[in-house]
Amino acid sequence: MKLSNQYPTLSGKTVFITGGATGIGACLVEAFLQQGAKVAFVDILDNESNQLVDYINKQYIDPELKFYHCDLVDIPALQAVIAQVEVDLGPIGVLINNAACDERHKIEQLTPEYWDRCINTNLKHYFFAAQAVRVQMCKLGGGSIINLGSMSWHNCQGGMAGYTAAKAGVMGLTRGLVADLGKDHIRINTLTPGWVMTKRQLTHWVDRNTAKYIEDNQCIKDYVMPEDIAAMALFLASDDSKLCTAQNFIVDGGWI
Ligand SMILES: NC(=O)c1ccc[n+]([C@@H]2O[C@H](COP(=O)([O-])OP(=O)(O)OC[C@H]3O[C@@H](n4cnc5c(N)ncnc54)[C@H](O)[C@@H]3O)[C@@H](O)[C@H]2O)c1
Repeated sequence: MKLSNQYPTLSGKTVFITGGATGIGACLVEAFLQQGAKVAFVDILDNESNQLVDYINKQYIDPELKFYHCDLVDIPALQAVIAQVEVDLGPIGVLINNAACDERHKIEQLTPEYWDRCINTNLKHYFFAAQAVRVQMCKLGGGSIINLGSMSWHNCQGGMAGYTAAKAGVMGLTRGLVADLGKDHIRINTLTPGWVMTKRQLTHWVDRNTAKYIEDNQCIKDYVMPEDIAAMALFLASDDSKLCTAQNFIVDGGWI
């Protein structure tokens, strides 16, 4: 994977990515390392995380990459990791709230406990990560927070009301924080992917009807790939987007 743009302001910056072991997160890890950034990521999948670290170490010369095991529903654990990242790699200048779980669930099967799990897995840690990096970003004179949203709720997609409600909340969270953090030159944007062909999507939901579905719904008939999302994330993390905040940037091939 190689993206064409180079952003000099990302070189040497500490970037913290949640859910970096697989899918879009793994692509973000590699994309930021290619910019010369120092990258820390958290995940619950130890095997996949270690495999990614091995791959990066073979592929690049002296990459500054650190993996920390962290279940993001455990907020004190997340706060401890964020404090440790500052010790290991320096103050965090870019936060990418990416981790989520798009498990399907039927309305009649939703329990109060499962509902809380949806919110805790897909929304709660976004706020607490932003809260924890704020003090580190202030030391740098500012920073960029990118919250991964989803087109699912815009498109009235059914079959996962807990997930879609949390993802709608992501956009509310972005806009609820921008004024307060803007005073510290911290920018926050939502980055909303369309249907991205990650390994998980390919394994669980992409089938022989997918090409026709995309043909019918996307203005540009190509598959959206993780690197298309990473390309936007690089721009939003870099100083080239220094006056972009409070916005929702959609990368979905024009879903109609
Ligand atoms: N792939 C798509 O089509 C698509 C579409 C719309 C939005 N998105 C959004 O993009 C982001 C990335 O999606 P993806 O498709 O790469 O997802 P994915 O499921 O492939 O990867 C998510 C990563 O987050 C990790 N994770 C989940 N729960 C965690 C927890 N409690 N603690 C720590 N790590 C945890 C997983 O282990 C995994 O590595 C998500 O926010 C998702 O909602 C993806």
